[in-house]
Amino acid sequence: MMIKKYLVSALFIALSAGSAYATAPIKTEEMGLSKTSVFDVPTPRVYHYSDAAPGANKLLPRAYLGAPPQVPHAVSDFLPITRENNLCVACHAQPDLWGKKLEAGMPVPIPATHYTDRRNAPDKVTDHLINGRYNCNQCHVPQTDAPALVENTFSNKKKR
Ligand code: HEC
Ligand code: HEC
Repeated sequence: MMIKKYLVSALFIALSAGSAYATAPIKTEEMGLSKTSVFDVPTPRVYHYSDAAPGANKLLPRAYLGAPPQVPHAVSDFLPITRENNLCVACHAQPDLWGKKLEAGMPVPIPATHYTDRRNAPDKVTDHLINGRYNCNQCHVPQTDAPALVENTFSNKKKR
């Protein structure tokens, strides 16, 4: 009990010593990206995910060489991705990798990298998705009409 009391008063002294040096308090409006007070109840603009059905969309430009392509179509009908059910695979699987015929009209197939255990057998294409590739949306992001929170000056063009 005594020890606790000492600790509390030590903390109090440390805090009050600190405040002697403290500069002006930071306004809540200036703390984060939202630039509103934490006491405001904001009404952010509602944004929408693309509702474009797969099949008629242009592929989106890659952010850089080797970047996971963004999903150009709606995904809401295919979620959630669970252990038992992955509808993305239903359209994007690539059975020709293990000798089965690739059906006609199959859209952009999942690349061989997704079937390869890079760490343990980097040269072997297996007949199943490697676990780290199962949750497609972890890397392939669907599109919304939300504006960027901050300006992004990233460019995939080489600076000369
Ligand atoms: C009904 C079939 C179908 C399903 C299900 C489907 N896709 Fe697609 N996907 C397509 C088609 C077709 C394209 C070609 C572009 C288009 O027309 O939308 C495509 C394009 C893509 C691309 C762009 C590839 C590139 O090279 O640019 C990505 C990434 C993708 N899909 C990811 C997904 C993910 C993740 C899911 C699951 C959440 C999924 N797809 C479910 C049919 C499907
Ligand atoms: C760990 C990240 C990651 C996950 C998870 C992942 N991918 Fe990919 N995917 C990538 C990257 C990176 C590329 C680009 C590889 C390249 O082109 O060099 C890619 C490429 C693709 C492409 C484009 C192939 C082409 O020829 O243009 C498709 C389609 C695709 N992935 C589908 C899927 C689907 C479906 C899933 C879920 C079953 C999935 N991916 C899960 C990272 C991922």
